Amino acid sequence: MATDRTSLTSVEREKAAVFHSWSAQGSINPMMVRDAQGVYVTTEDGTTYLDFSSQLVNTNIGHQHPAVVAAIQDQAGRLTTIAPQHGYEARYHAAELILDHSFEGAAKVFFTNGGTEAVEHAVRMARLHTGRHKVLATYRSYHGATSTSINLTGDPRRWPNDLGTAGVVHVFGPFLYRSNFHATSEAEECARALEHLETTIHFEGPSAIAAIILETIPGTAGIMVPPPGYLAGVREICDRYGIIYIADEVMCGFGRAGSWFAYQLFDVKPDLVAFAKGVTSGYVPLGGVVINEAISATFQDRVYPGGLTYSGHPLACATAVATITAMENERLVEHAAEIGETVLRPGLDELASRHRVIGEVRGRGVFFALDLVTDRDSRAPLAPYGGSSPAMAELLGACAAERLLIFSNFNRVHVVPPCTISADEARDGLARLDRALATVDHHYTGA
Ligand SMILES: Cc1ncc(COP(=O)(O)O)c(C=O)c1O
Repeated sequence: MATDRTSLTSVEREKAAVFHSWSAQGSINPMMVRDAQGVYVTTEDGTTYLDFSSQLVNTNIGHQHPAVVAAIQDQAGRLTTIAPQHGYEARYHAAELILDHSFEGAAKVFFTNGGTEAVEHAVRMARLHTGRHKVLATYRSYHGATSTSINLTGDPRRWPNDLGTAGVVHVFGPFLYRSNFHATSEAEECARALEHLETTIHFEGPSAIAAIILETIPGTAGIMVPPPGYLAGVREICDRYGIIYIADEVMCGFGRAGSWFAYQLFDVKPDLVAFAKGVTSGYVPLGGVVINEAISATFQDRVYPGGLTYSGHPLACATAVATITAMENERLVEHAAEIGETVLRPGLDELASRHRVIGEVRGRGVFFALDLVTDRDSRAPLAPYGGSSPAMAELLGACAAERLLIFSNFNRVHVVPPCTISADEARDGLARLDRALATVDHHYTGA
């Protein structure tokens, strides 16, 4: 029998009926959204927020881009779905556009519903292609929430899901600010991280390792831009031992770092690239894997044992075509790079000159992190790894009071607005962040 819910508020109905991600269900208090436009999100009570988070770092062209909304409406009127074994114009067109922006020698695209499935399939392809099982990933990483992806993930969300049987070995990537290698320069950090990687390979058995997966610029884990030479070094090591190099570009791809794919900033060619999020700006769920020639050739005569009912879904693929076309026509990738260098980086550096809690500003494009500390000398984080703190809770409360949506993780806030953000909107967001940071300056205990 249907329950009478008329006496409930909308948030009560949401909490009663919807099971939310990554949450103790009793402790959630979701913001009820009415609509969104560009870089703004408006709640049911009419409050408008500036979106410095791009939701989950995916609305790369902002909300409700008119050309993309029109393309979705048009596609819905023509063909909403078709089984994956059939061919369809929007599907091959989306694949062609993605390949056109990919590395030289990128041969095919396998479409999934999102990022975690892209990672799962990239790893499956690498394992089948090499006939090996182990995969290397970094501790400071997030690769998704399904079985293989959550085991590849380094962050603590892996812990309750990790049975120790996934064939994953974790290593430390380069991260000078919190170096695991006692390094004092980017060059030292790079050399030592590569040495550590190669030593791990020697001790794990090179002939047992199928792939290494790296977020080109790790996202949720802290936006650590790799030092010059690191990814080229990884490529060399992979070539030496016949290991597949998988770039996870789910968060850092499609304009986020001021380039179509972040690996292009480092002049390296991965073998497989996992993508999702920005490919449709999240308007319709889509992800996928860009596959190089050699791995494509493996499955030319041999059956690939994997598939999805919605692989290459017409509505999602038409959305990708419209999104990529809008990004090209409006030069949004170039715009993201320019906003990063002319407004976000100088603006965040200026905030760091006044707020001692900002230990480090790092990133590029529309992809920046503030590493927050209680002491600049010891670099003691404002919240512990894997946890929160009253200071971080205060900061997030202050951002909400400023009507600023911001991405946070442990002791960091990430400034990750849509690629479409204007200079004035970006400055407005920085001013809101400035006022929010002022409320937590008193937590700084260092000199
Ligand atoms: C780098 C990276 N890989 C994979 C994923 C998983 O993507 P999805 O949530 O679409 O499954 C994410 C999501 O945040 C991500 O940031």
